[in-house]
Amino acid sequence: MTVPFDVARIREDFPILRQTIRGKPLVYLDSGASAQKPRAVIDAMVQAMETQYANVHRGLHWMSERTTDAYEAARDAVAGLMNARDRSEIVFTNSVTGSLNLVAHSYGRGILKPGQAVIVSAMEHHSNIVPWQMLRDQHGVELRIAPIDDNGELDMQAFEALFHDGKVGLVSITHMSNVLGTVTPAGQIVRIAHAHGAKVMFDGAQAIVHRAVDVQALDCDFYVWTGHKLYGPTGIGVLWARREILDAMPPFLGGGDMISSVTFEKSTWAQVPHKFEAGTPAILEGIGLKAAVDWVRAIGFDAIAAHEAALTDHAIARLSRIEGLTIHGRAQDRGGVVSFTLDKAHAHDVATLLDRQGIAVRAGHHCAEPLMQRLGLDSTARATFGIYTTLEEIDVLADTLTRVREFFQ
Ligand code: ALA
Repeated sequence: MTVPFDVARIREDFPILRQTIRGKPLVYLDSGASAQKPRAVIDAMVQAMETQYANVHRGLHWMSERTTDAYEAARDAVAGLMNARDRSEIVFTNSVTGSLNLVAHSYGRGILKPGQAVIVSAMEHHSNIVPWQMLRDQHGVELRIAPIDDNGELDMQAFEALFHDGKVGLVSITHMSNVLGTVTPAGQIVRIAHAHGAKVMFDGAQAIVHRAVDVQALDCDFYVWTGHKLYGPTGIGVLWARREILDAMPPFLGGGDMISSVTFEKSTWAQVPHKFEAGTPAILEGIGLKAAVDWVRAIGFDAIAAHEAALTDHAIARLSRIEGLTIHGRAQDRGGVVSFTLDKAHAHDVATLLDRQGIAVRAGHHCAEPLMQRLGLDSTARATFGIYTTLEEIDVLADTLTRVREFFQ
């Protein structure tokens, strides 16, 4: 099997991958939790700190102007990445969780009415469940759950049936499961929701890393993701929404930068996106995010998607041959996430033994306890692939898992 781009060359961009862990070459298979950072991102942030760092949107001095330009260039880069109609549709938050909570608070309390319903799926991350439960308990909306089948695919008939009474105002659903790797049928979801007058938000935390996301082609209403899984820094998340929706939404956090004027009697709001960006933003993280977006786009999502499909196919083929190992999630359309359990060993023990060999995977409920309940499990081990993952690393994982199984025999 050949990898359609030069992964050895790409790995040279990641200083961290040269390490050994416990005397073994690092095999980092936890990019779904957080990806490693290329030199371009590290350098952009260091250079900003060494040459021009100041606060943004406030100063009239050279340093502040340069840094404001660099920070705002991140908005352009993100708008380009997502094919947003306008840069003002890009709101920076601190994480996907921050973006989801912003929408749950602002759109949820400001636009949705008590008695309306929000649909999430059975395979959501907690960050796309808990804010809606809080909205349900505080604002009186109903929470409806779209079920999945045993392959980990959305049951589209059951999904459509959730709209039967015309009460659904919003669908907030993962674009790619962080546990099962399932890529949800975004086009179909949007068509069904819009036909019933509901808006659609995709949690793209995993998806945007693995494929090109074009919000105009998707025709969705909100799309959220985070920098640190796309080879950028932690502490910066993205909320994209249609301009007219952002205009209609009330602010979430109040403070500096989000106002037009303030008196003790009344304040007025800045235009979007600034209406949603109170306080000093994640300046250096924005600069790092731009570097990450540029770096990823220079490689290209066609090449990335092909590489990750090859990795995933290889992982499923190799892991399927290990006796006593079960892969969870068999969706047709899937990304570089493979969750598994071994019959004789708890996932935490598997992860610990893999770690002894320098292999980093995540084990646990992956912040998706309701999905674990649906699967009848308390935890899985999970290998997630990045742009720098090699077929040989997957072979190391499979060979080591075979030995782990023998150990527990
Ligand atoms: N949401 C991240 C994960 O799935 C942290 O690991």
